[in-house]
Amino acid sequence: MAETPLAGGPSRSVSGAARLRGEPRLPGDKSISHRALILAALAAGDSRIEGAGDGRDVRATAAIVAALGASVERLREDGLNVDYRVVSPGVDGLREPEGVLDCRNSGTSLRLCSGVLAGLPFFAVLDGDASLRTRPVARIIEPLRLMGAALYARRSDTLPPLVVVGRQRLKALDFTTRVPSAQVKSAILLAGLRAEGRTTVREAVATRDHTERMLRSRGIEVRREPGTDCGGGPVVWTLEGGAAVSAVDERVPADPSAAAFWLVAGAIHPDAELTLRAVGVNPTRRTGMDLLKRMGADIEETPVGDVPAGAEAGEPLADLSVRSSDLRAIDLGPAEVAAAIDEIPILCLAATQARGRTTIRGAGELRNKESDRIDGIASGLRALGARVSVEGDDIVIEGPTKLVGAATLTLDDHRLAMTFAVAGLTASGSTSIDRGDSAAVSYPSFFTELERLRA
Ligand code: S3P
Repeated sequence: MAETPLAGGPSRSVSGAARLRGEPRLPGDKSISHRALILAALAAGDSRIEGAGDGRDVRATAAIVAALGASVERLREDGLNVDYRVVSPGVDGLREPEGVLDCRNSGTSLRLCSGVLAGLPFFAVLDGDASLRTRPVARIIEPLRLMGAALYARRSDTLPPLVVVGRQRLKALDFTTRVPSAQVKSAILLAGLRAEGRTTVREAVATRDHTERMLRSRGIEVRREPGTDCGGGPVVWTLEGGAAVSAVDERVPADPSAAAFWLVAGAIHPDAELTLRAVGVNPTRRTGMDLLKRMGADIEETPVGDVPAGAEAGEPLADLSVRSSDLRAIDLGPAEVAAAIDEIPILCLAATQARGRTTIRGAGELRNKESDRIDGIASGLRALGARVSVEGDDIVIEGPTKLVGAATLTLDDHRLAMTFAVAGLTASGSTSIDRGDSAAVSYPSFFTELERLRA
């Protein structure tokens, strides 16, 4: 297959805004959208997914689900979100894909689909763009091989493309993940559905638990070992193989990782008032917002709907309002980095506007994302005049610094593109964001929303 182009596109420029007001529309949660499509493919019958994020990553998963033999219909779309109807013959009616499965820029598609494919008697090849081909896969190859599937990858089984030769029946596994990763945990749990016996995943630090919640709401008994919880410490999840996933309808919450860009924009801009509706505030996803609050951000949270915050199926939601705030520096350790992994780039921008020295320790996993986010964020923020130093896998930021518009490099990474664009709203002059269209990997209308906020 010809290599698909990188995620980016033309460059964008953002000028400083006098005031920020409004309610930016948010994409449906990316993590939940991927899972809703994958679980719909495993469930016999008709599943409707309302408000899935329509970014390029989730579209990649939709195409993979279709290549496996489920019918995927786009019922309604608005340039940001899409409603899907997926009709599947059920996991045992899926078919071997004819061609290479293109994950494009999406590590979640690659790793979660590998877990599904491990338990299907097919030969499958997963590939993606140049960035995806640098993302580590040994972390999923190891447990899925132990479960009985055969997996192979480039460079001594470390980098995609990834070949999965699955089996109808797998062995149950008791596995301790080596890095905190919801993708790895989810791949093992999805493979565990096809295993004889009980599969256990042990995590030193709790990661997002959408797979567990969504399996529960589809009739699978996923247990959390008593005494372990999702409050940042170790957590142990188990599930018994062999049960069928039921088809359900799902309404996808607004993505808290997308909301984080506007929470920081509102907090660091001197004249801002922004509101975000029905955002997912699952305890395993809200650390980014909580860290921002710890920095002094004026964020008001109003619960929406009836899923209580501690419930273990379904997703709690809240409306969030943010106002211009006086921020102070904080110190973050590796457990907080793991819990706020997707929000660290935008929190680094917040730190440039906070009084004092912010230290982010043990952020090495950021080097394994869509780009090396430690080097990428440090270079972009430095170009804007921020004081950022990197020592090994630690990031140190001194603030506050008045940012000055400049050229920034996104490395084709959607979260760097959006971070530098938000920086541009508060910087003097004009900030250019090369290949800014990579934002559409997770947030197709991002730049439209940003321009609408200039009041
Ligand atoms: C995701 C998990 C995280 C995150 C990614 C989405 C998921 O990756 O960075 O954007 O949906 O499970 P890791 O599990 O590799 O940390």
